[in-house]
Amino acid sequence: MTPESGEGFPDDLEAGIRELKERQNAVVLAHYYQESEVQDLADFVGDSLALAQAAAGADKDVIVFCGVNFMAETAKILNPDRKVVVPDLEAGCSLADGCPPDAFRKFIDEHPGAKVLSYINCSADVKAMSDLICTSSNAVKMAREFEGQPLIVAPDRHLARWIGQQANRDDLIIWQGACIVHEQFSAKELTKLRLRHPEAEVLAHPECDAAVLDQADFIASTSGIIQRSVEGPAETLIIATEDGVFHEIEKRLQALGKKKTLIQAPGMDESCACNRCPYMRLNTLEKLYLCLRDLKPEITVPEDLRLKALEPIERMLELS
Ligand code: 13P
Ligand code: SF4
Repeated sequence: MTPESGEGFPDDLEAGIRELKERQNAVVLAHYYQESEVQDLADFVGDSLALAQAAAGADKDVIVFCGVNFMAETAKILNPDRKVVVPDLEAGCSLADGCPPDAFRKFIDEHPGAKVLSYINCSADVKAMSDLICTSSNAVKMAREFEGQPLIVAPDRHLARWIGQQANRDDLIIWQGACIVHEQFSAKELTKLRLRHPEAEVLAHPECDAAVLDQADFIASTSGIIQRSVEGPAETLIIATEDGVFHEIEKRLQALGKKKTLIQAPGMDESCACNRCPYMRLNTLEKLYLCLRDLKPEITVPEDLRLKALEPIERMLELS
C-alpha cells in the first residue's frame, strides 16, 4: 500500500497518530527493527518474545502491530476478540515464506515420532503443526523440553545449528530456511574489521551464519544484544543484527550519560542496505496513520486454525 498524495495527512503526523490511538482505543506494538520514528510512537517496543507477551496482555480494543505479519498473526491468535491491524500487509519474512505448510507437513511425516519445535517466525499453519514455539530469547530452553526425544527444529537452519550446539545435541532434524537479512553478514569482512578494532566486542544474533557466530563474543536475541551493548563492559561494539537496534541502544546509553562506539557488522555487498530488513522497513508513519484511521488492513485467522496454533504458543509463554 502506498499512501497517495491527497490522503489528508495532518500537518503534524505524529500528533495525528497519538490522537488516533486515543480515539480508536488502540495500542501500538513495535519491533526493534522498525524505523526509529515508528519505535518512538509505539506504546511498547520489544523483541519477538516480549511482543508476544505484550500481545497476550493487551487490553485495548485494537492492536496495531508494527512488525511483520507472523508477529501480528501471533497477536491475533492470542486475541481473537480484538481487532489486529498492520500498517502494511506485504510485510512478510523470508523464514515464514521459506516454510510452506504443505512441504512442512510432508517433512514432519518423513520423521515419524519426532517432536516439532518451531521458531515463532513461521505461519499460523506451521505453528498449528508444532508441539512448541520458541523465539531467539528462549530457543535453547524450549529445546531442552525435548531432551532424549527426536526433534525437528524449523524453519531457521542457523538458529537450529546454534540450539544444537548450546543444548549439546547433534541429532536435531533441521528445516533448511534462513533469514535473508542475518545471512548477509560477511565472516571474511568481519575478520578484517576485528583486526582493525581488537578492543571491540562482537555481538551477533543466532540467525547469523555459523562463520559469523564463530567470531562472536556474545550471541543473543535482539533484546539480549541491546542489553549487553548498554550494560556490558566493552566501549566498542561490532553488532551483527538488523541496525534498527542502534536506535534503542543509543537512547538507553544517552539516558545513562554513557558514550560507546557502535559499529554495524559488515555485509557481503557494501552497496546495499542488506542488513536492514526489507519487510520490517515497509512500515512508515504515513501507513501507521492510515491503518489507525481506517483500522485496516486487518489480520484474521480462521478459528479452527487459531485454536491449533494457540496451544504451542501458550505453552511457550507458560515456560518462558
Ligand atoms: P528476535 O526479535 O527474537 O530477536 O528475532 C529477530 C527477528 O529477526 C525478528 O524477525
Ligand atoms: Fe524475517 Fe529476517 Fe526480517 Fe526477521 S529480519 S522479519 S527473520 S527476514
